[in-house]
Amino acid sequence: MKFFVDTADVQEIRDLAATGLVDGVTTNPTLIAKSGRRILDVIAEICDIVPGPISAEVAATDYETMLAEGRKLAALRPNVAVKVPLTMPGLRTCKALADDGIKVNVTLCFSANQAILAAKAGASFVSPFVGRLDDVGQDGMELIGDIVSIFDNYPLFRTEVLAASIRHPMHVTEAARLGAHVVTMPPAVLRQMVQHPLTDKGLATFMADWQKTGQSIL
Ligand code: E4P
Repeated sequence: MKFFVDTADVQEIRDLAATGLVDGVTTNPTLIAKSGRRILDVIAEICDIVPGPISAEVAATDYETMLAEGRKLAALRPNVAVKVPLTMPGLRTCKALADDGIKVNVTLCFSANQAILAAKAGASFVSPFVGRLDDVGQDGMELIGDIVSIFDNYPLFRTEVLAASIRHPMHVTEAARLGAHVVTMPPAVLRQMVQHPLTDKGLATFMADWQKTGQSIL
């Protein structure tokens, strides 16, 4: 399973990338707005930090403009994955970019049929939004399971299921259990995943007992 971080905060990305646990990054217009930086600058900088796919989202909604934006974003660095919305013009843009050999992440996916369309359009990733489905009383994880099992029926589909809109560590566990290829999570969730009170307690005991030995390993 690959881990992407869902942020445009370059300092956070740098810190987490240093752990070797980050396989890619996803951004969206909200995250770019939050960064307060120009999209072209921030995406290029992120691409230079993390070698894996860096999703950069188009800002238009019509085919011609999305295609032009997608090509411009993709030209920034070879590891850009262009993010397009799951609309008919978005799927058309996905197909055109994919035909040019550009990686595409089809975003704002809320149904299995939408995911099938993204796969048909040649997407490298489809992003079902788990948390936002949970928010409206639908089980986001059920959708992840459905898409993974549907894609398993069609080995020719190359699209990876990218579980998005992750809100807490249990979402990551569940997405892994269901076989999602990728999970993109806010940095805080990745940091929460390492936490366990018994780890802290056990380590404190080991450290105290080690002090008693008076030894040093180095
Ligand atoms: C994914 O690529 C999106 O950027 C993201 O996961 C959306 O998450 P949110 O619902 O927390 O905004």
